[in-house]
Amino acid sequence: MTRISIFTTVLACATTISAQCGSGTPNAKVTGSGSAFTAVKGSTTVYTGSDYRLAIQSALDSISSGQRVSVIASGSIGANTISIGSGKIFEGCGTINVANKAGKGAIESLNTVGVQIPYLTMTGNPYFGLRFYGTKDLVLGKITMNLSGGLGIRFDRDAAANTNVKMDVINVTGAGSHAVETWNIDGLTINQVIAKNVGESGLLLQKTTNAKVGLVDGNNVGAGTGYGTLRFANNNGQNANGNYNTNVYVDKVVSRGGGRGIFCVSQSGGAVITTVDLANNGNNAILIENCYNISIKGGTVNGGGEVRLAARTEFPNNKDISITLKVDGAAVRESPCGDNTTWTLTGSPSSKNICA
Ligand SMILES: *[C@@H]1O[C@H](CO)[C@@H](O)[C@H](O)[C@H]1NC(C)=O
Ligand SMILES: *[C@@H]1O[C@H](CO)[C@@H](O)[C@H](O)[C@H]1NC(C)=O
Ligand SMILES: *[C@@H]1O[C@H](CO)[C@@H](O)[C@H](O)[C@H]1NC(C)=O
Ligand SMILES: *[C@@H]1O[C@H](CO)[C@@H](O)[C@H](O)[C@H]1NC(C)=O
Repeated sequence: MTRISIFTTVLACATTISAQCGSGTPNAKVTGSGSAFTAVKGSTTVYTGSDYRLAIQSALDSISSGQRVSVIASGSIGANTISIGSGKIFEGCGTINVANKAGKGAIESLNTVGVQIPYLTMTGNPYFGLRFYGTKDLVLGKITMNLSGGLGIRFDRDAAANTNVKMDVINVTGAGSHAVETWNIDGLTINQVIAKNVGESGLLLQKTTNAKVGLVDGNNVGAGTGYGTLRFANNNGQNANGNYNTNVYVDKVVSRGGGRGIFCVSQSGGAVITTVDLANNGNNAILIENCYNISIKGGTVNGGGEVRLAARTEFPNNKDISITLKVDGAAVRESPCGDNTTWTLTGSPSSKNICA
């Protein structure tokens, strides 16, 4: 996993993430518990009262670009939104409980430059836990969401694009929808996405180019749906000039149970997945449908649904798909035949219907 360590180093060098949440001297702090919270900026009290959300927002509003807020207190913000402005560093050291505000993030940063969220622990049932668009140089660090519904991290579809987004370890449990859903990012580096008991996708990339992902690890993701641990959709990986030269690199995908393991659809491609470890997926272990220049370079499928190359008639057929894989106890099927498919199969698939 050389690539993971390289990415981690790049991430560490690029940011000023403190060694531990709240360590050193944050410029502002939120402390307290129950119905008594205090926000201070240096030695100035900027909020005191029972409103946890307002304490946090007051702390954020008191700092300037380049400064850091550490939220030490745990509490509930209710069906509300915390907003982070350009250059600000937000650390959620306590547990931030949230609720559903339709169409909004519990925490948002929109049209900003250089925002960092090095640490965050979130619980509850948000519409979006974190919501972004129009960001540049956004850095997310260790983000843990133990949710009872909602979508973990979302980059909006119908809004300004993002450039240079970095994420370290994103760990989402219990989302009703996706753990992480991107739209419109050019330049994305993710160390790990860990998704457990999530309703739709673990990592869903759409209209995202120049992406490097270390590990996507899904356990019971998208059960009973066509979603799964890793999904590329809606022209993901299509370069600005229209071609599909490789620009999306994923080191490893691990998937257990749930819906699909890996699903590429709707004219996505330009991707290399170095290795996979997929077992007992309830839907296709792998489904590649109308995708271009996708290479899976190795790994295993053990049981579960078919490894399938397919095509819908609404888009051009699969092209330049290359799969090297050990398959045991699952079917392998290519139908219709893709254009320039390369298979290197080992193991004992339960059946094999591929084009020569
Ligand atoms: C996650 O949240 C649920 C409640 O929604 C709780 O029962 C469980 O203990 C939490 N898990 C962890 C590891 O904090
Ligand atoms: C992910 O977060 C859950 C709490 O929601 C925790 O129990 C689990 O250990 C975390 N997993 C990893 C790999 O950090
Ligand atoms: C796939 O991407 C690689 C790397 O950029 C490129 O060399 C190759 O030409 C692409 N293949 C096709 C058929 O587009
Ligand atoms: C066929 O696909 C392979 C990789 O899967 C690629 O290297 C090669 O260039 C493709 N051939 C043509 C004729 O595009």
